[in-house]
Amino acid sequence: MSYYSGKNILISGAASGIGKLMAMEMGKLGGNMLLLDIDALGLESLKNELAEKNIHSKIFICDLSNRQNIYTTAQQIGEVDILVNNAGIVTGKNILDAQDEMIEKTFQVNILAHFWLVKSFLPGMIERDSGHIVTIASAGGLAATPRMTDYCSSKFAAVGFDESLRLELKKMGSNVLTTIVCPFFIDTEMFTGAKTRFSFLLPILRKDYVVKRIIKAVARKKRRLIMPRFIYTIFPLRLLPFTVQDVILDFFGVNKSMDEFVGKGENV
Ligand SMILES: NC(=O)c1ccc[n+]([C@@H]2O[C@H](COP(=O)([O-])OP(=O)(O)OC[C@H]3O[C@@H](n4cnc5c(N)ncnc54)[C@H](O)[C@@H]3O)[C@@H](O)[C@H]2O)c1
Repeated sequence: MSYYSGKNILISGAASGIGKLMAMEMGKLGGNMLLLDIDALGLESLKNELAEKNIHSKIFICDLSNRQNIYTTAQQIGEVDILVNNAGIVTGKNILDAQDEMIEKTFQVNILAHFWLVKSFLPGMIERDSGHIVTIASAGGLAATPRMTDYCSSKFAAVGFDESLRLELKKMGSNVLTTIVCPFFIDTEMFTGAKTRFSFLLPILRKDYVVKRIIKAVARKKRRLIMPRFIYTIFPLRLLPFTVQDVILDFFGVNKSMDEFVGKGENV
């Protein structure tokens, strides 16, 4: 029996990208899939795809930038054993070009929604002394690049959110687990146009690979998943003065990675 078998698994941002793939794979492993997104059509089509594979799922249309909408939807969802905070958005603009509303929305979806979902489902997990909260952050939550002030700061927040939550649960003596996931760019539509200089060290990750790693890490109760491994060099790099850090990151092309970003265009 797999770790996912018979568990109620809620995935936010399930209508596309890695959220969709996680839904398919966790469903294949026996999870009862609870799928949340703002994209009603995407959710419907995923539900049908899952049904074709005899995977039962329930869909919930919800705007994660709206706290009240999240709390109301959470009441309809019921008990959750594994919560995957996956939905995210990126505008990919320099700070002065980024619209105020989009900066706010980035924070609402990429971090504030985690608070409202965790506040909705953690009490039940604590009561049952069992559960798992997975936060899909980003390598951009460990090191920032230009054109990402809103995105990176929201992802740094997500990394801090997971860390504080993990420590709170530990202090409480709870068996509820957390896992933080920090991937480099993935080949979904979200970061279309983003590039890498040395793809053997910093490859654009394939979404099926990312999902396979997440599924394995969560089932093994790993508390942190960073990929590719080269990203770990950011920790010693942080000890160096900024002048040296900048030269190294320039060399690896990291600071130019967003120069040709187009993302999802108007569909952010
Ligand atoms: N793609 C990458 O390069 C990359 C790299 C590192 C981390 N990540 C993170 O992985 C996660 C998934 O990204 P993806 O590449 O699969 O992106 P994606 O754009 O394919 O999927 C994101 C999903 O979130 C949903 N969503 C957006 N705003 C919403 C809202 N207000 N309410 C409800 N749902 C909303 C979208 O409809 C979409 O289905 C994100 O948190 C992202 O930041 C992505």
